[in-house]
Amino acid sequence: MRSVPVITIDGPTASGKGTVASRVAAHLGFALLDSGALYRLTALSALEAGVDLGNEAALAELAGRLDVRFEGERVLLSGREVSRDIRVETVGLAASKIATFPAVREALVVLQQGFRRAPGLVADGRDMGTVIFPDAPLKVFLTASVEARAARRYKQLIEKGFPANMDDLLRDLRERDARDTQRAVAPLKPAEGAHLLDTSNMGIEPAVKQVLEWYQSLSAR
Ligand code: CDP
Repeated sequence: MRSVPVITIDGPTASGKGTVASRVAAHLGFALLDSGALYRLTALSALEAGVDLGNEAALAELAGRLDVRFEGERVLLSGREVSRDIRVETVGLAASKIATFPAVREALVVLQQGFRRAPGLVADGRDMGTVIFPDAPLKVFLTASVEARAARRYKQLIEKGFPANMDDLLRDLRERDARDTQRAVAPLKPAEGAHLLDTSNMGIEPAVKQVLEWYQSLSAR
């Protein structure tokens, strides 16, 4: 199991790591783990079941019992498609809150590690390189300035026809950054030995190319 390669891609919200991870996985024919989706699914289950978002034990139990399937872009929770439901803002916010509970994080460890299957895995999140796959041969930490990330999210929202306000977006990103980096368990930080990639002035394709080059230079060794 240990010999199955993993590429971890961690970084802050709206850094573009989801897109980079999925393109790198497609290029290599690897599986993809969107770990943020698991926190979002736990949050959605809790909101639907009326579980108090402060009840760590009940949330951890929900997380431990998640029945999830990823089929390409589709996400199924107990057989029901929830791909859009988990992307709404209230669920994202709830996910970021429940992700601060150690018991919730612990309950998701085995589920996440189970995605490691031949020929390989690209894992996208906050603690993929630091906690979940510490032995990954390639670890990447993708960053971009808060302004660049807010501008990208603004463009995405407008393109999808949603209203967006730059000041609100900046405030929201800063709040999430603070929560992700300052939490006691598995805070967002580069793993030891991680390659840093700042995409503030870089498009998605060059970022994908850089990660693939790092991976190829590993395999060449
Ligand atoms: O799009 P955004 O970056 O806000 O969210 P996401 O990557 O889908 O993850 C949702 C939430 O789960 C984030 O706000 C993180 O706080 C949390 N998360 C985490 O704690 N650890 C991970 N490995 C992935 C996500």
